[in-house]
Amino acid sequence: MSSQTWGRVDHYIEQTFLAPDPALAAALEASSAAGLPDIQVSPSQGKFLSLLVRMVGARRILEIGTLGGYSTIWLARALPTGGELLTLELEAKHAAVARQNIDNARLSEKVTIRVGPALRALRTLEGPFDFVFIDADKESTADYFRHALALARQGSVIVVDNVVRNGAVLDEASEDSRVQGIRRFNEVCAAERRVSAVELQTVGSKGYDGFAIVLVDG
Ligand code: SAH
Ligand code: DHB
Ligand code: MG
Repeated sequence: MSSQTWGRVDHYIEQTFLAPDPALAAALEASSAAGLPDIQVSPSQGKFLSLLVRMVGARRILEIGTLGGYSTIWLARALPTGGELLTLELEAKHAAVARQNIDNARLSEKVTIRVGPALRALRTLEGPFDFVFIDADKESTADYFRHALALARQGSVIVVDNVVRNGAVLDEASEDSRVQGIRRFNEVCAAERRVSAVELQTVGSKGYDGFAIVLVDG
């Protein structure tokens, strides 16, 4: 089974389960036109995140790593009236593209973008957040997870992107700091007694990767 098949099946799933979506399509186009990297979650992954938000009944979401706001739009749309999403982004240019995309999706009332290093912002935040999506620099994932846990309540869900990376996660001697960052997160998360967690491998239009799904037990 080839990555080409995964991509074609993903496309088929999109055609079957996802409605055409002008705001999301425009967000992808604007991100690409601005030269942002093409590394946002896939459409089906975006819908998966939005379903999780609704299953949890989340009213306050924290996202770490905004890029052009593609995942932000999926997450924010799943919020009820009065719900809020705070998203943290290092790069002013990414944040500017995201702001435009979020305005265009008519979500600016719910979404706040904080520009700067996520770790600096995280030290100032007050919880609880019901749902956290961690998807920024992989080196800091374990630190982001510790902060997310401190900002959570019993029943909160934390999702972490890119925990498999084509299987690179297996390589304990990897010289890739991103792989080491994910491996450190895995150790911290697996040893954390206040959560129940698992990771699911994914294939599709983004290749072979995975999500960590973490339930905060209290
Ligand atoms: N969640 C987005 C993709 C995020 S890509 C989506 O799926 O649509 C990762 C983002 O994290 C990039 O925009 C990058 O600039 C940002 N980032 C990298 N290091 C960061 C840091 N220290 N603090 C905040 N954001 C950071
Ligand atoms: C990269 C980052 C991501 O968050 C992702 O989902 C895919 C790729 C990257 O930095 O290459
Ligand atoms: Mg990612």
